[in-house]
Amino acid sequence: MAKREQEHVQLPIPNGWFAVEFSRELREGDVKPIHYCGEDLVLFRTRSGEAKVLDAFCPHLGAHLGYGGRVMAETLRCPFHAWQFDGTSGKCTHIPYAERIPPNAKLRAWEVQEKNGFIWIWFHSEGEAPQWDFPDRPLFEGNDEEWSEPRAFEKVLDAHIQDTHENNNDPVHFLYVHSATQMPESEITFTPDSTHYRISSTNEISNELGTFKMTLVRDSWGLGLNCMHMDGIPGAGLQMFAATTPIDENRVHSRWLLTASKNMVDLAGEEFMKNITAGIEQDLDIWKHKVHRANPVFCEGDHYLGDYRKWARQFYSNPVGDVQKPEGR
Ligand code: FES
Ligand SMILES: [Fe+2]
Repeated sequence: MAKREQEHVQLPIPNGWFAVEFSRELREGDVKPIHYCGEDLVLFRTRSGEAKVLDAFCPHLGAHLGYGGRVMAETLRCPFHAWQFDGTSGKCTHIPYAERIPPNAKLRAWEVQEKNGFIWIWFHSEGEAPQWDFPDRPLFEGNDEEWSEPRAFEKVLDAHIQDTHENNNDPVHFLYVHSATQMPESEITFTPDSTHYRISSTNEISNELGTFKMTLVRDSWGLGLNCMHMDGIPGAGLQMFAATTPIDENRVHSRWLLTASKNMVDLAGEEFMKNITAGIEQDLDIWKHKVHRANPVFCEGDHYLGDYRKWARQFYSNPVGDVQKPEGR
């Protein structure tokens, strides 16, 4: 049987923190229509400088506030009849032609936080409040004396967020998709009930600076955030913060910020950034055409994948598939 619709198991959108924009792309007074986690939303920055996200459609006659909405102090004004909605509570605070404001004149206000160079929203399929947080990495916000101004890039990919994330925990594919010459020995630290997951792999590399044992450390918090750093060259480093956001069940918007310590940015920094972008291009076709197997056939070399899938279950209100042990474990 090789019919896509029969082989493919549709994963839902997981719960978690997801980036909706780079901080630097939203200035005070900006208003943007956005579509993430299957929802139509409006993103704006108030006059006090706070990023806010509201449901897009006005409770009055249904105008989309992202098209023509205007920031008025801490509120967003609907383009149709000028009702104003508070960015924090979502409540209508002003109707220019009415004294009384109807009690249900309200939009859903999303939980927003801004750090590490991104604006994040909390998505939960059952509407629950944020259940966990993730660390601050201020060097991705720029203005760091030791680190280069972060370089940004982004791409929309035809893939489910669990599959793009799974890629990080799939050392074997580096040999066949990314032309790696050896599979680095990897070490994983995780517990199924912790939202943090770390995978580190050590490799020997040679470049103009010499030969080094480099350790690549990838930290994840949920399925939407990934921070990678490279250790090994004394006093120098490379760091990447990747944010992956479901647009819907089958597409993601990925954004990356990359920074290098100033003493190596000219040499290895550019190369590192180029390699990351090139690497993603190599994965695209696989993601686009693959089906999701909720219960894949695993062999004994697949324990990283089995561990990852076990960890990933906690981010779904209703997980799909069984917990499986790869052979030989
Ligand atoms: S539709 Fe928004 S104020 Fe009328
Ligand atoms: Fe890959």
